[in-house]
Amino acid sequence: MPDRLSDALQDKLSKRLSFYDDIGIRQFYRNRTVTTANDGSYSGAAWLRCSLPGASDEHEPDFQKRTTEHVETLRVETQIAIPDTREETLPKSQPKPIVPQLPSFGARSTSKGSLPPLTPKISLFDSVSRIADDSLLKIRTDLGECARCKLHTTRNKIVFGDGNPKAELVFVGEGPGRDEDAQGLPFVGRAGKLLTQMIEAMGLQRKDVYICNVVKCRPPENRLPEHDEIKTCSPYLLRQLDAIAPKVIVCLGACSAQTLLETNRGISHFRGEWQQFRGHKLMATYHPAYLLRNPAAKSEVWKDLQKVMAVLGLEVKKSKAAGAESPS
Ligand code: URA
Repeated sequence: MPDRLSDALQDKLSKRLSFYDDIGIRQFYRNRTVTTANDGSYSGAAWLRCSLPGASDEHEPDFQKRTTEHVETLRVETQIAIPDTREETLPKSQPKPIVPQLPSFGARSTSKGSLPPLTPKISLFDSVSRIADDSLLKIRTDLGECARCKLHTTRNKIVFGDGNPKAELVFVGEGPGRDEDAQGLPFVGRAGKLLTQMIEAMGLQRKDVYICNVVKCRPPENRLPEHDEIKTCSPYLLRQLDAIAPKVIVCLGACSAQTLLETNRGISHFRGEWQQFRGHKLMATYHPAYLLRNPAAKSEVWKDLQKVMAVLGLEVKKSKAAGAESPS
C-alpha cells in the first residue's frame, strides 16, 4: 500500500467527507464498524438484510449536491435553529455553542460527553398554544391550495400526510420527493418502500401509523427545505402532531429531528436517545433514504425502532414468518 494517497484519491476522499459533514453523519461513518449483534437486539427484520443494490434513492438523486455552502446559506438565513451538520468535525473537547437565537438552554445532561444540552429550555414550539378541537380535516382545510412559500410554484401535489388520525406513532420525514409530489402521498418512493418494511417489521401496518413531513411541498431537485419554507410550513405540522397526539414521534433524518428539537446538533449525536416534544416522546433516527445508501446503518435504526416498540408495547417478533430472524 502506498504511503501517500494520490491527489485524485485525496480529493475524492475529502469530497466524500465533506458530504458526510453536510448530512451530519461523519462521526457515524467514522465509527462504522457496526455488525450484527449477538445479543439478539438487532434480530429484527428482512428489511435489515436487503441491501437494495445500486441504491441511489430517487428522493435524493442529488444528495451529494447538498454542499457545505448550501448548509451555510441556511444557517445564515435562519432565525430559529438551523442544522449545523458540520459540527461533528469539531473535536469533542471543543463543544460548539448551538442555537444562538434561543435564549437559554436547559440543564439536562447528555450521555454523549460535554456537548451542550440538546433541547432549548425555552422551546419556540412549546410556546405555541394548542388549538382546541383541532382536527386533521380542519388543518387540511386551512392549508388549502397553499401558496404561502415559494415551494408552491414548483410542486405538483401538496403532500399533507397519511395514515391513522389517532395513531400512537407518527413518522416525520423531511419533504416530498418526486413520487410523493406526483401522488400527493408521503413516502411512496423507494425510501417509502423501505419505511413500509420497517413499519411492518415493527408488527404494524402503514394504516396504523401516521406519516408526514416537515414541508408539504417538494423542494426542487430534492434540495433541503430552506428556513423560510420550514418556518412557513411547521405550524401545520405542529397542529397535525397536536391533533393526533401520538405516544411517540419518530423523526426520520436530520432535517426532521433538528426542526422539531430546535437544534443544530448533528443527528448522530442524539439518535437513539429519547427526547421530548410538546409532551410526546420523540426518537430521532436515520432517514430511510440514507439507509438505502448505507445499509450498514440499518442495524442502528432497528435498535432505535425497538426502543419505540418497547414504549408502544409491541413485541419484537422472532419468527421467520414475521421476517424477524437474525440477519445473516
Ligand atoms: N423522503 C421524505 O423525507 N419524505 C417523503 O415523503 C419521501 C421521502
